[in-house]
Amino acid sequence: MHRALQLAALGPATGPNPRVGCVLLDPQGRTGAEGHHRGAGTPHAEAAALADLAARGGSAAGWTAVVTLEPCTHTGRTGPCAQALVAAGVHRVVIADTDPNPTAAGGAQLLRAAGVDVETGVLAQRARSLNERWATAVGRGRPWVTWKFAATLDGRSAAADGTSRWITSAPARADVHRLRAEHDAVLVGTGTALADDPALTVRRPDGTDATGPQPLRVVAGLRELPADARLRDGRAELLHLRTRDPHRVLTTLAEREVRTVLLEGGPALAAAFARAGLVDEVVAYLAPALLGAGPAAVADLGVSGIAGALRLDLAPGEDAVARLGDDVRLTARPRARPAGERDPDPSHPPVVEEAARVHRDR
Ligand SMILES: NC(=O)c1ccc[n+]([C@@H]2O[C@H](COP(=O)([O-])OP(=O)(O)OC[C@H]3O[C@@H](n4cnc5c(N)ncnc54)[C@H](OP(=O)(O)O)[C@@H]3O)[C@@H](O)[C@H]2O)c1
Repeated sequence: MHRALQLAALGPATGPNPRVGCVLLDPQGRTGAEGHHRGAGTPHAEAAALADLAARGGSAAGWTAVVTLEPCTHTGRTGPCAQALVAAGVHRVVIADTDPNPTAAGGAQLLRAAGVDVETGVLAQRARSLNERWATAVGRGRPWVTWKFAATLDGRSAAADGTSRWITSAPARADVHRLRAEHDAVLVGTGTALADDPALTVRRPDGTDATGPQPLRVVAGLRELPADARLRDGRAELLHLRTRDPHRVLTTLAEREVRTVLLEGGPALAAAFARAGLVDEVVAYLAPALLGAGPAAVADLGVSGIAGALRLDLAPGEDAVARLGDDVRLTARPRARPAGERDPDPSHPPVVEEAARVHRDR
């Protein structure tokens, strides 16, 4: 399973499908073939491993398949993997994580019904963390949302005159491009689109667009974008969603099989998502600077007393707090509210309810 997880990690971090690895062991327990999923429309890991074995002239009859995610049962762009393993004569399947996707789950059951010996839960936590954003997205039927912002130490996202380029230093800005590349879509409100005329593409430090797929560029809000907006330059697809409803935004993106969204602001849109409990992770780039005036990184959250603060916990892992040049990157997640605790101000909706459910589901 360690090897299968290594193979899975070779797959793309973005796209509609999870990262999956598969190792086929002969009856003596020796590795006979390997495979991993390389992205939507390409063979699933099990199919890739079976093809690898066939190319070597081998047969999987009586073999063991070690796979990082429960084999699927549905026919999407490719055929169902559980059936393919049964048809190949595999006698044992070792699975790390079960499939949270309701349309694809049930593989272990299908295999057992066909007389295959199935073991689940081997290194399950490692497998789940590899596909955490994807699993959250398919399990909940809406994309995973990472909200990123840059601010001064006093939490300002722009100066009093509206200028905001650049709050953070070059290493932090380069890191934002890495973050963009890890998401299927980048989202801003019309306020940011009109004020900053951003390109929202993944770029190299020299300013040129990175090779590889560019995230979908999404703008939410009712106002029109100018004809000469950078977002219309064709360097990546643009989707303008003429709505102010965060749920509607995510539903539309889910219909397009977008699994991960990087919400890049601005303060009004970020507040709307946070209030709706639709933020899964916050990545804050904090510059050691003070402005003393200017808009805050996030607009009104409807919190009137300290007890109502949207509390976050640092994300797991050592890089939850990282130094980037002179700046600090902080990665945190909305904290699950203790069971039974009421929202301190009943006139405001509980902003972390949704996030609490994400944590329980994990
Ligand atoms: N430091 C940072 O990290 C950072 C990041 C981004 C932006 N900024 C700065 O933020 C400023 C823009 O701030 P902003 O708050 O106007 O930007 P915004 O949040 O990007 O846009 C706000 C607009 O989005 C639309 N919208 C869509 N759904 C909404 C909802 N649920 N709630 C509220 N509005 C919704 C509304 O416009 P319609 O009337 O068109 O519907 C609203 O006026 C710029 O100066 C920019 O430089 C800073």
